[in-house]
This record gives sequence, structure tokens and C-alpha cells, in this order.
Amino acid sequence: MTPVNAPAFVRHTKLIEWVSQIAELTQPDHIEWCDGSDVENQRLLDLMVSKGTLVKLNEDKRPGSYLARSSPSDVARVEDRTYICSETKEDAGATNNWAEPAEMRHTLNGLFKGCMKGRTLYVVPFSMGPLGSPIAHIGVELTDSPYVVVNMRIMARMGKAVYDVLGTDGEFIPCVHTVASPLAAGQSDVAWPSNDTKYIVHFPQTREIWSYGSGYGGNALLGKKCLALRIASAMGRDQGWLAEHMLILGVTNPKGEKHYVAAAFPSACGKTNFAMLIPPAGYEGWKVETVGDDIAWIKPNKDGRLYAINPEAGFFGVAPGTSEKTNPNCMATLHKEVIFTNVALTDDGDVWWEGMSKELPSHLIDWTGQDWTPDCGRKAAHPNARFTVSAAQCPSIDADWENPAGVPISAFIFGGRRADTMPLVSEAPDWVNGVYKAATMGSETTAAAAGQQGVVRSDPFAMLPFCGYNMGDYFKHWLKIGERLEADAKANGIAMPRIFQVNWFRRDADGKFVWPGFGQNMRVLEWMIDRCEGRANATPSIAGLVPAYEDLHWQGLDFTKSQFEEVTRLNAQEWHRELDYHQALFERLGDHVPAEILACHDALEQSLDQAV
Ligand code: GTP
Ligand code: SPV
Ligand code: MN
Repeated sequence: MTPVNAPAFVRHTKLIEWVSQIAELTQPDHIEWCDGSDVENQRLLDLMVSKGTLVKLNEDKRPGSYLARSSPSDVARVEDRTYICSETKEDAGATNNWAEPAEMRHTLNGLFKGCMKGRTLYVVPFSMGPLGSPIAHIGVELTDSPYVVVNMRIMARMGKAVYDVLGTDGEFIPCVHTVASPLAAGQSDVAWPSNDTKYIVHFPQTREIWSYGSGYGGNALLGKKCLALRIASAMGRDQGWLAEHMLILGVTNPKGEKHYVAAAFPSACGKTNFAMLIPPAGYEGWKVETVGDDIAWIKPNKDGRLYAINPEAGFFGVAPGTSEKTNPNCMATLHKEVIFTNVALTDDGDVWWEGMSKELPSHLIDWTGQDWTPDCGRKAAHPNARFTVSAAQCPSIDADWENPAGVPISAFIFGGRRADTMPLVSEAPDWVNGVYKAATMGSETTAAAAGQQGVVRSDPFAMLPFCGYNMGDYFKHWLKIGERLEADAKANGIAMPRIFQVNWFRRDADGKFVWPGFGQNMRVLEWMIDRCEGRANATPSIAGLVPAYEDLHWQGLDFTKSQFEEVTRLNAQEWHRELDYHQALFERLGDHVPAEILACHDALEQSLDQAV
């Protein structure tokens, strides 16, 4: 192996050796060591405009912003091509794809041979978590996609400063990514290179990530789901902390009481929206501030509290459905320096997507690059179209969003997309029952992952696609964290975080959402905060502790008692079916499911027989 030349700012011998090895395997034409500078960023953006990968948007309307259109076969995470290659299949568990590590290495070795021919290998150093902070983890992604480079620069702290933190022998998580579309001499490139064969592979024991064939989102921006969730969850299991698919927000009432909550909703189920909530009419003097919209790293502290940080630096959010009405903070965040992927292009060089405005533009270029008119029968934007934007641009960003100590968590919220069964909100009577609720949550599948949409599946903790080890062991880990926390909380005379479940997505007989959602979710958040403060009422039910109509505040909204009943009614037949789903999940997970969780299930079945 001939060692590659590295610039003077890279002083890490092992890193240079590793880059040399990967270059020898993948055979790129060039190697570029990214420094994260504006100059480098602009050069890559210009390069992609010249190659047709990006369209520059109207500088007056959307300064510094670009549109990418992916290949129609590369539009979302590919869960069936995602692997957790732990030493044993049991350690990956029933919910993950597994392959024997040596066998997978052999497969990858074959696939990666020469896969970057005709392309440039970019070395992308990044920090998940504030640079240099003790809770941050560093990764280095080697990629042949300039689109990945410019996105990673927004989503993580990317660039030269990472090498200063790494020094000569600092630890980093090696991440190798290729679009797997080598170019023969003279062969012209396509706008969005990718490969029909895809592998998203994690080796939790050695903490490595290998991604092949996709250039899209979580498949390719390896700091996000691959590192900050799948690898980090396994690290958290070993080290006593949690890596979660959660937004973090701070809510302050007119009295000045501030609480932070962390909420896990599955992909495309409302995290970005909830994290940026603007209190509606009737909530003057309330404030909601954003710490993160997708991932939380949470650590127990000796003071008896859990502290959470957002390891990301940007938002990779769902565009469709985002509007001035549903999420004005998000719309304001998107005013400049955004990379849009798979949205539609307006005739004046701006962007549009379904749900952005009531009136439809008379003409667009859709996400596939074709002419679009309102009557053409096709969607203008792909349902999983996304924006990449710096979190610092968000008007509601919390003052402590980059505090390396994190923010103290008063409550956890778990929510799915359920047309029936699950009420608007409920509270678990204690930690173990909260873990049960989270473990058994289900949600309709969305366009965030390739495959069938709108079918209810179990999605424990909204982590089904992101847990880097055995799901049953993950439940155990949550119980263990709870035990430790309870002891420390008691010793310090403070309350445990409460655990709530929500469902914004109940539908009526016509299939319409009954709950107005979005800003109105504030009413539910207020009840939860009041519960934390020991103020609000709740009544026991099969779904846990639930509010009555009078326990929520309705000022500024016309929502009748009978509408409330529609979003909260508990139906015995539905709950029998629900408990059967839970049973099926436990059977699938096998003997790793903790006894405490099975005991919750038995208790629920008994109380269901008595009343609903
Ligand atoms: P990932 O980034 O995939 O993890 O998703 P996310 O949970 O951040 O999803 P996001 O907030 O982007 O929401 C996705 C979709 O849910 C959008 O189409 C929203 O319009 C819709 N949505 C968000 N909040 C609500 C709500 O309160 N009610 C209803 N009915 N829809 C909502
Ligand atoms: C999700 O699917 O939960 C996302 C988008 O946040 S992606 O980064 O593509 O996984
Ligand atoms: Mn997500």
C-alpha cells in the first residue's frame, strides 16, 4: 500500500493509513481532504451545478440555495438492505438484518473493489455533538459523492477543526460511503449516480459503517442514523446512556417555568413540527424553543436528572406538508442556504411541494424533472422530499442547544400515527409502564422508508430501523437506566421524568384527522407540563392516566366535547386487538423481553377484562 499524501493539518497516522487502504480498495481518480471552508463548499456546489446534480435557485427568493433531484430508485432509507453485523445474530436481534461479520466483510470487499473509479474520494471529518465537547463523537466519512459532502457540512460540525480535536491519535468512527457507480475512462456521468444494489452495513463491535449504492439521506449521510443512532445506541448500552430517535424542545409558561421534553415519533410523524411549535391563540406568554428535531443523546447525571444533547447541527426535514400554517418557524428557517432534494421547481426558480400553499401553481418542474400542471395526476414533490438546513437559522432555536452539558429532561413523549385505538394523550403511571408503552407503540409506515406505506407496524421507541442491537436488550437497558435514575432522583429529592404517549392522527369515519394538530398540540403539551408540576388531573384507564375534556384548556379553539371524545374514546375490541399485537411483538423478540414488561402486559390484559 502506498500511503496517500495528506495536507499538513492532518496529523493522524492511523487515519492517513486507513484512507490509503480505502483508496487502494476503491481506486478513486482523486482524493480531496475536506476542510469545511466556504470556498470549498462553493466550489463543490458549483461543480454539481455544472454536472446537473444541482439546480441553483433564484438568488433573490432563496439565497444560496439549491435543488437536487435524485434517481427515482433512490428516494428513501432502505431498511431491508440495512444490516447490523454484530458477532452473533442474537445480539442483532429479531428486528435487524444480520450477516456474519467475516462473511459481510468479504461481500463488501468484493463490492467496494474499484467502486470509485473515475470519481473523487472526499475525506469528510465530522463531529456529532459540539466540537471538542466531552460528549461528542467524531466520525470520518470517505465518500465519492460531493452531494454528501455539502450535506454533511450542514448536518454535522464538519471540517478542519475536527482534525485539531483528533490530534495525532484521537478516536474516530470510520465510515465508508460510495454511490457505487464507477466511471470508465471517458464515460459521462449522470446527475444522480447510484446503484440498484444497496448495502447499509454497521459493525457495532468495531464501530464501523459501510454504505454502498445509495446517495440519499440516512443511507448516505452517515453521521445521522448510522452513527448517531445505530452505532451510538450500542455504545450507549455499553456505557450507560441512550441514543434516541427524539426531538428535544423547551417549553416556558407565562410564570417562567421552563421544562425540556424529548419526544420519539417514527419517521415522518411530526418531530420537526413539534420541535418548532408556535403556541396558538390563547397561549400568549408561552414559548417553545427547539434543541433538536431528530436525534437525542441522553445521559444520566448524579444529580438525579437525565441530560440530553442534539448531536446534529442541521435539520434534514420532510418538505411536504410544511407550510406557513403548519410550521412557520420551519418556513422561516428555510429562507436561505438550503439544499432541497426532490421538491418541485417553480417557474421563477423557487421551490414548491404538496401542502405548501392551498392554491396550486399553474406550472412546475416536478421532482423527476418533468413538466407538471395541477391536472397531470402526479405529485410535484416526492412524499419523502427533504430540506437540509443549518439549525442555527431556526428562529426558535434554544439558547442551550449547543450546551455540551445538555438540557435536563422533565418528560418523554412517545407517539405514533394511528387511525384508531390510541387516544390523543395518556401518561404512564410509572417508568416501567412507560417503557412498556414505548416498547409496544405502533405506527403507520411512511414514505421515509422504501416499501409499503400506511400499514401499522410495531415500532418500539420509534427505533425499529435504528436500534443497533437486540431490541429486547434495549428494553432492558431502558429499565436499567430507570433504576439508576430512580435511586439518584430519590437521593436528590427530585421527580423522575414522566412518560407520555400521544396520537395526533386519529381519523373519523371519512378518514379525516379529527385532532387539528400542529400548533394546537400545545394544549396537550401544557397538560403534560402541568402533570410534571403536579397540577393537572388525570383518570386511570386501560391506556394509562388520561385527561378529561375539562382537564385541557380550550381557549382560542372551537373543539367540542364530542370531538374530544372522538380523539380519546377507548374501545374494548380495539384494545383486545392491540394487546394481541403486543403479544405478537414479544413472541417475535423472544426471551430477551424483560419479565417486567411481560408482567405489564398481563396486568393490562386483566384490567381490560374488567373495564375500558
Ligand atoms: P423524520 O425526519 O423522518 O424522522 O420525521 P419527523 O418526525 O421529523 O416528521 P415531520 O415533523 O417532518 O412530519 C412529517 C409529516 O407529518 C408532515 O407532512 C407534517 O405535515 C405531518 N405532521 C406533523 N405534525 C402533525 C400534526 O400535528 N398533525 C398532523 N395531522 N400531521 C402532522
Ligand atoms: C428518518 O427517516 O427518520 C429521517 C430521514 O430522519 S433519514 O435521515 O433519511 O433517515
Ligand atoms: Mn428521523
